[in-house]
Amino acid sequence: MTNDSKRRLADRRGQETRVYQPAEDSALLADVVVDVVESGDRVLEVGTGSGWVAERLERETKASVYASDINPFACTAARDRGVTAVRANMLDPFARRSFDVVCFNPPYLPTDPDEEWDDWMEHALSGGPDGRRLIVPFLSNLRRVLAANGRGYLLISSFTGYEEVVSIAAEAGLQTEPVREESYPFETLFVLELTPTEMPTNDER
Ligand SMILES: C[S@@+](CC[C@H](N)C(=O)[O-])C[C@H]1O[C@@H](n2cnc3c(N)ncnc32)[C@H](O)[C@@H]1O
Repeated sequence: MTNDSKRRLADRRGQETRVYQPAEDSALLADVVVDVVESGDRVLEVGTGSGWVAERLERETKASVYASDINPFACTAARDRGVTAVRANMLDPFARRSFDVVCFNPPYLPTDPDEEWDDWMEHALSGGPDGRRLIVPFLSNLRRVLAANGRGYLLISSFTGYEEVVSIAAEAGLQTEPVREESYPFETLFVLELTPTEMPTNDER
């Protein structure tokens, strides 16, 4: 999301308080993941919103694509596009080693608690005070759901704290590699590739 798109989103609030519509960040993530997914891969898009990214992955690869979102309206929107979507909190319901590729464009805008809106768009945009409210649980649980040789792809912004995210990923046993970067006047977006650094522990098997 760039400042322009944030402004547009702000302008649209009121009409569009339910489901995040695709923006620059969605396209950046989709462009990266489409290129790395191989036919036969099992792919999960966490926080699918409108389902646009998952639909692109399904259309442009021969992978089995699944999507999830905490927002029931997002799940309906994704299903309307033909995407298999389940309502879920982050990676909670998914079994160990389920996916070859997991991708996530999280809510990442640092948001003052006094400015929270308490609607579904808040779930789509707000990353809490430091922007990492959902990035932390995503990184902590990713290894569990990745199959052997599986990888994660996480969209982050310069607002989210690049070094902080890399360090949280390292603590969770994930190596980070920036695979795409796009700069806008007030913001840089990155897609990080996340690869488990060592053999899974007994708990993760
Ligand atoms: C920035 S939007 C991205 C939407 C879509 N993936 C895209 O790129 O256009 C973040 C999405 O994460 C979802 N989300 C927020 N909290 C979540 C949670 N705890 N578990 C799953 N999804 C969540 C939101 O409802 C929203 O659809």
